[in-house]
Amino acid sequence: MSEFLLIRRAGQMLTLRGPNEPRRGPALEELGIITGGAILIRDGVIAAAGPASEVEALEDARGAREIDAAGRMVMPGFVDSHTHLVHGAPRLLDYEMRLRGADYHEIAQAGGGIQSTVRSVRAAAPEDLEAQAHRALRDFARHGTTTLEAKSGYGLDETAEFKMLVVLAALDGWPLDIVPTYLGAHVVPPEFADKPDAYVDWMCTEMLPRIRQRRRAIFADVYCDRGAFTLQQSRRYLEAARTAGLGLKVHAEQFTHTGAAQLAAELGATSADHLEQADENDAAALAAAPTIATLLPGSVFHLGLDRYAPARMLIDRGAAVALATDFNPGTSPTCSMPMILSLACAHMRMSPAEAISAATINGAHAVGRADHVGSIEIGKQADILIVNAADYREPPYYFGVNLIAMTIKRGAILYEQASVADDRAQERAADG
Ligand code: NIG
Ligand code: FE
Repeated sequence: MSEFLLIRRAGQMLTLRGPNEPRRGPALEELGIITGGAILIRDGVIAAAGPASEVEALEDARGAREIDAAGRMVMPGFVDSHTHLVHGAPRLLDYEMRLRGADYHEIAQAGGGIQSTVRSVRAAAPEDLEAQAHRALRDFARHGTTTLEAKSGYGLDETAEFKMLVVLAALDGWPLDIVPTYLGAHVVPPEFADKPDAYVDWMCTEMLPRIRQRRRAIFADVYCDRGAFTLQQSRRYLEAARTAGLGLKVHAEQFTHTGAAQLAAELGATSADHLEQADENDAAALAAAPTIATLLPGSVFHLGLDRYAPARMLIDRGAAVALATDFNPGTSPTCSMPMILSLACAHMRMSPAEAISAATINGAHAVGRADHVGSIEIGKQADILIVNAADYREPPYYFGVNLIAMTIKRGAILYEQASVADDRAQERAADG
């Protein structure tokens, strides 16, 4: 017997419905708002969504279990398309050193940076990595994320990369959907310290075919930047990844301009991420490509930098922009997509509507899941948020405040905000 759930009395219901393609230009502004909406869910899948009068009149709506949105905003769950979910410990020493003025190089010399996370992930038991990631997943759920991409890249050798990918596979669905990415090309590991080309060779000829064989990743990602991989090395790796049947993602134009965004566009990568240093030519190339421009303002904010990605230029040129947290211990330790919306609006001049599209439907395109998630449409997974807001502009406006009242995943309540004890309210109730 099918199980029916009815979400009633939505105030603003942001459906994000529309053609099944990444949103660009003015389409990013279209949230498909229905005022006074309802959603009927059958076995975790959206069976109907529209004005309450229509949905509640359906035969299957009678006798369905009900969730009362009580006039609050209802929207699709966030799709966070760029995270380094599994990483063990936070890097609090790096953080303090940076606040005292140390730069990236000095931090690495003092034993910090990505290499320090590599050392600790290599030494960690899988159970401990799983426990860290699972704590983070609960925070993601509290902040409204229902699907996320997650990268390896802190193991780098075969054993530790597969350890990370196996942890991701074990966590998939508990409780969020995880799209796994192999990020072998994050930095050059110590055992290849002075022979980066040999490491790229090894990944292309040994690792990528094994990733394919063991079906441990959907995407491959490379960090193309100073101190990581060159444009030539990135091209070689991405071409090998494509041959291995993986989708392509690129950390592009983060600290230095390398040409990686145009390489991503040329290769038809699924996304080019970061783009803080992107210029007009990069914007034109991304606008002409299927490649999603994924912006990560959390890393700029946390590093205390002031050069955010040129979102306005990218959008105005026609690039399909997504927003993600880049959750990682070095540059962006946040699980909060609402905070990312605030940063995108304040610092990149995205409109609240553009930011919401970028964090939902375009995020879904950036992980290849737009057929299943990212909007409230018939046939999609019932990944839905009830938000303590009357208007879609409130989540970015109330920065640093978590307005998520309820996170629903495949029609099941994952998270429900607790109430605040209020003695006077109790007294009043007792008096009345
Ligand atoms: O996306 N830029 C490269 N990778 C991460 C940082 C990872 C780390 O510092 O641990 C990023 O910002
Ligand atoms: Fe990243």
